[in-house]
Amino acid sequence: MRILSGIQPSGTIHIGNYFGMVKKMIESQNDGELFAFIASYHALTSVKSKEDLEKNSYEAAINFLALGMDPEKSTFWIQHDVKEVLELYWLLSNHTSMGLLERAHSYKDKTSRGISANHGLFSYPVLMAADILLFDSNIVPVGKDQIQHVEMTRDIATSFNHAYNEEVFVLPVAKVDENVATVSGTDGAKMSKSYNNTIDMFTSSKQRKKQVMSIVTDSKELNESKEWENCNIYAISKLFMNEDELANLRQRYATPGEGYGHFKLTLLEKIEEYFKPYEEKREYYLNHKQEVREILEFGASKARKIAQNKMEKIRDIIGLI
Ligand code: TYM
Repeated sequence: MRILSGIQPSGTIHIGNYFGMVKKMIESQNDGELFAFIASYHALTSVKSKEDLEKNSYEAAINFLALGMDPEKSTFWIQHDVKEVLELYWLLSNHTSMGLLERAHSYKDKTSRGISANHGLFSYPVLMAADILLFDSNIVPVGKDQIQHVEMTRDIATSFNHAYNEEVFVLPVAKVDENVATVSGTDGAKMSKSYNNTIDMFTSSKQRKKQVMSIVTDSKELNESKEWENCNIYAISKLFMNEDELANLRQRYATPGEGYGHFKLTLLEKIEEYFKPYEEKREYYLNHKQEVREILEFGASKARKIAQNKMEKIRDIIGLI
């Protein structure tokens, strides 16, 4: 069984990415053949600075390695090192209706927030379909916001298979963990780099404190009892605490004299404790960038072999002789 997923290097990885997808992906190395890549081409839809793209790409690679990506067991690369994906993107474009792309939530959401649309943003799902189909992926672990893109991939693959009357592509299935399908940000909306409401996985203590302390709550006073049910601090704490710790926290909500500031500090401690074991490995890779480059190149060479093979078959099927 082949499992594939990618992440855009469009900023530091936040805990929404981590619980929504990265954690599941790293764990899936024990369940099947994992293909994981840094979606550098996709990031071009939002990152327009050379320095930022390079920095974010290293950052993403280093974070994955620190969190347990095993480059021997899995195939781990950066998207632009396997250029076959761009060829497939064009071939698939000719089997993708305008209507399908016009219905994409992510595109509609971005344009409705005033991001001016270009063709890259519009055709983003076709490139994502190429990523998935090029490697005959069966399972795609993602957060909720990407489910529709995987469904579109199935539509595109079906249309292609139908046109050539052959099972050229495997139909992939999105794998979503319902408990963390959408991790909320500090303001209660979906955690997202573009909403500026993230809590980052690896960042300075000062910055992390600033992010946690900015979690929005109601304005109940210290001596009032509080409700945990709809509280953003509680929602995020659920990711980091076990049932006993949560029961204790719920009790504190009911205790006058305990305030949101206290709950935030408890959460902050839990977050630091959670990511601490990975810091040392992260530090190592930060100081060995050449090794990171070599690991990605090794992954790309494995991915390229599969991609080249697949593209030869596809070209033959469609008559590109
Ligand atoms: P990206 O980089 O936006 O996000 C990476 C993963 O994190 C998940 N995610 C979340 N999950 C839960 N709660 C949140 N608040 C949250 N925010 C982000 C996303 O659902 C995603 O799984 N298009 C993809 C990258 C990509 C890809 C692919 C993925 C390119 N090609 C092929 C799978 C297969 C993206 O933008 O992810």
